[in-house]
Amino acid sequence: MTRNFLPSLATPINFPLCMAPMVGLSHVALREVARSYLPADAKTIWPSEMLNSRRLPGEIFDRTPEVMKSRRADGEEGWVPQILGNEEKFITPSVEKLVAYGAVGIDINMGCPVQKALKHNYGVALMGDAKYAAEVVGVTKKNSSVPISVKLRAGPQNDFQFLLDFVGGLQEAGADWICLHPRTAGQMRRGQADWDQITELKKHLKIPIIGNGDIQTADDVFAMIDQTGADMVMSGRALAARPWLLWQVGERLGFSAPVGRENQKVPQTREEEGREYGRSLIQLLDLSAEYFGEDLALRKFRFHVRTTQVWLMFGMALYSLVNSTKTVASTREALLQFFENPHELVPRTELRQ
Ligand SMILES: Cc1cc2nc3c(=O)[nH]c(=O)nc-3n(C[C@H](O)[C@H](O)[C@H](O)COP(=O)(O)O)c2cc1C
Repeated sequence: MTRNFLPSLATPINFPLCMAPMVGLSHVALREVARSYLPADAKTIWPSEMLNSRRLPGEIFDRTPEVMKSRRADGEEGWVPQILGNEEKFITPSVEKLVAYGAVGIDINMGCPVQKALKHNYGVALMGDAKYAAEVVGVTKKNSSVPISVKLRAGPQNDFQFLLDFVGGLQEAGADWICLHPRTAGQMRRGQADWDQITELKKHLKIPIIGNGDIQTADDVFAMIDQTGADMVMSGRALAARPWLLWQVGERLGFSAPVGRENQKVPQTREEEGREYGRSLIQLLDLSAEYFGEDLALRKFRFHVRTTQVWLMFGMALYSLVNSTKTVASTREALLQFFENPHELVPRTELRQ
């Protein structure tokens, strides 16, 4: 029998890797590119960028900027939007709206360290008050017809007992799974993620745990599962740069090729990955133009290149190039020319971006 990693979801999830929620990056167009590398017989979850529950109720889906972030492709499966919030009066209508739009689960952000989130007492601020955080899970759960998850950080001063009590409270309040990014708020997204915290949490939790942080290659995915016992693994920046990581992992696990890629070979060498990076960028640019229109597409695309070029040898040259072009058509042309020459992707970077 195939394993179901997140049993609370109506559709079984049989694949151990998913993309992290990332503002400005994990939007509908990137998810579509990444899905094109997911093995045909694999099912995973697809978190959205974080969405502000104070704004969602008043948004007209598919039009306003906040909702551009929550845009979902027609028929996109496994969509798990992430909300920032702490008040029932905003959470309830947001959840209703997202479920009506196709959410199969709702993730609550308890990891965002930016000032704006702290000011409103949500994001990682919720980790400062365990009782309140559990109440937020409780009211979300009560008002949702789909499962609820929480994505959080290592907590203050790497205090493991705190984390255990905190997550225990979320579990009691009805969280269906937890995603742990074991860096403290002070570390932001730099420095080493402390996988031991995932291992310890896994020993104590009844609900599934998704581990996140420092996942750059297929080896990393399997290493995290082996070392920590995490049920699933989440990758952010590296999976944005090399979405075929889904295919690489799938191939090792004996999944089929992605739809339409049956006659292709999974990219493995630095040069093959360099070539695939070029192809996936063009696919992303085209889809971004379709979903967001020229201006927003270019802005989002430049941000994507800024974040992901660090895996490309001499990636700054590419970043300068996409900043010098003014239209989607000229950017496309420049990309085609740039990738006519061989380029190499390195397996790992320091993840400083
Ligand atoms: C540009 C950017 C935006 C992010 N936005 C979010 C977000 O909206 N919600 C969230 O929970 N985490 C967010 N994160 C954190 C990632 O989900 C992830 O926890 C972090 O990048 C560590 O994973 P990685 O090392 O695989 O990138 C963001 C990260 C990046 C790089």
